[in-house]
Amino acid sequence: MPRLNLLEETRYEKLPVSVFPDPQKASLAVAQRIAELIREKQSKGETAVLGLATGATPVKVYAELVRMHREDGLSFKNVVTFNLDEYYPMQPDAIQSYWFFMRDNLFNHIDIDPDNINIPDGTLAPEDIQAYCLEYERKISSYGGLDLQILGIGRTGHIGFNEPGSAPNSGTRLVTLDDLTRRDASFDFGGKENVPTKAITMGIGTIFKAREIILMAWNQKKAEIVKKAVEGEMSSDVPATFLQLSNNVEFVLDADAASELTRYDTPWLVKDCLWDEQLIKKAVIWLATTLDKPILKLTEDDYNNHGMAQLATERGPVYNINIHIFNKVQHTITGWPGGKPKADDSQRPERAEPALKRTIIFSPHPDDDVISMGGTFIRLCDQGHDVHVAYQTSGNTAVWDEEVLRFTEFAIDFNKTQGLDSGDLEKQYEDMRVFMQGKKPNQPDTEEIRRIKGLIRKGEAIAGARYAGVADANIHFQDLPFYDRVKVSKNVDFEDDIVQTMELLNKVKPHQVFAAGDFADPHGTHKVCFDVILAALLRLKETEEWVADCWLWLYRGAWHEFAIHEIEMAVPLSPQEVERKRMAIFKHQSQKDLPVFPGDDMREFWVRAEDRNRDTAQAYDQLGLAEYEAMEAFVRWRF
Ligand code: F6R
Repeated sequence: MPRLNLLEETRYEKLPVSVFPDPQKASLAVAQRIAELIREKQSKGETAVLGLATGATPVKVYAELVRMHREDGLSFKNVVTFNLDEYYPMQPDAIQSYWFFMRDNLFNHIDIDPDNINIPDGTLAPEDIQAYCLEYERKISSYGGLDLQILGIGRTGHIGFNEPGSAPNSGTRLVTLDDLTRRDASFDFGGKENVPTKAITMGIGTIFKAREIILMAWNQKKAEIVKKAVEGEMSSDVPATFLQLSNNVEFVLDADAASELTRYDTPWLVKDCLWDEQLIKKAVIWLATTLDKPILKLTEDDYNNHGMAQLATERGPVYNINIHIFNKVQHTITGWPGGKPKADDSQRPERAEPALKRTIIFSPHPDDDVISMGGTFIRLCDQGHDVHVAYQTSGNTAVWDEEVLRFTEFAIDFNKTQGLDSGDLEKQYEDMRVFMQGKKPNQPDTEEIRRIKGLIRKGEAIAGARYAGVADANIHFQDLPFYDRVKVSKNVDFEDDIVQTMELLNKVKPHQVFAAGDFADPHGTHKVCFDVILAALLRLKETEEWVADCWLWLYRGAWHEFAIHEIEMAVPLSPQEVERKRMAIFKHQSQKDLPVFPGDDMREFWVRAEDRNRDTAQAYDQLGLAEYEAMEAFVRWRF
């Protein structure tokens, strides 16, 4: 039974929260709890009644339950399940249906009696829904209610599909999905317009009646809503806040999802801290930003009135702390991202030697390099480093079908002008047109179409990299296989991707690796791409000497930027460099105007990049440092 943590440091938290280092460990703990309940019930000859959720969050919990069934003999014979929700309308065999999800992730792999599985029916006639929902509630009650309900949380704060505005006593019913929820699901459905507008969901009241409720959340993406749910005022604007009323709830989080809770984000407000360099930097920058003051103008009173008296006492006088942090931030600024030759590098982000470095920039999609670090990319080339760029995936998902027709038509016409035969190509062209006309939402493209989409982006990437100043021989297209494999199955092995990346790294033997550290990207591709690079470097480290001298720098992509206190290298851009960067991004014509999956942000990528780089420069300026036009930010990953 969860307990409310009574420590001072959790005083802002209105319900019990357990934090695990990563989703894997957290999922194992939840699976363990579920198994315990099932066994406990089994020993008494009783039925365990489980409330289940779908989505990305519980996948590892289900995988662990399947493992326990296979390896530890955990039986589900005495288990009855009720799923939270289902899209409406929805056929149970559609790949996006929650029926499909549950079979794929759990039910097909365990010994549950199919009659014991309950998932709201997305095929009902509208006039039958109300009675069906009442019956769903009645059926749950007939088993004596839910023993344990597991939940995820949507970025709107929804639990189940109880969107903002839901009442705390709501029951199972038909609801309208929030726009943000539909956007979040758009990748699965191949566009927001294909996501159903409605769903059948258990109500908050239904969930509430469970004897135990575990809400799970992983990833930075959830940090903001988790903070609201845990520390915010109870309100139907964030339906998950109603869980604060329950005595039987526990939030199980990974460190990233918990990162905005007061005890992690601004711990000096709730406890005495161990003041290491990083925490001091974070706190001083937070204080300056909160008070909208330059670092060097912060006073003793400012420290004392904002939870930082302990720091002032331990390390004061505060003016010395201010100067120390000011210098630290100052030293992150460099116009020499590959190191400044012959300079004293003791206070610089990069080493001076070797003066000319071998550098490899990994770009998850074909345009992340220029969007996220185009200015630095150009500078590294201008400063004479041996710059390589590796495009990790083809990025074929993000090309409109019309583009494929346009390029193929060009090829056919070109052949005609050359007197060449386009027989096969014309046939393929016709086949593609037919396929596109009958294409279902999110239906994977044919291999041919994917290949052409990849080629379109390849051409753009070459144009962008050449514009930045890279030699053609240094442009690498990895076309990592995981990218197309995950379109067919979520259970993908990354071995081929790692091996391929090891080969490339070993060929280049870089002194610097730049990688996308944008783990909150909406499609997960960046995270996989980073994990692949890290795994490759760690394996190479065992045998290759050059790895000891290789520094890994992270940049962030189109979605969000590092916090100022995290930045270890800030590369300022002049107004002219901002324009050159923009031109490099413009080479990615298929991504201009309206990309296929823009995410939450409707601005074009070059606008987002410029806004973000200007914001970073402005933040430095406001802290009292020099005023630049724009800045690209990097963090070093020590592996
Ligand atoms: C799923 C459900 C939703 C999800 C929530 C989080 O049955 O009811 O509330 O739990 O949208 O989704 P993921 O886990 O995909 O982030």
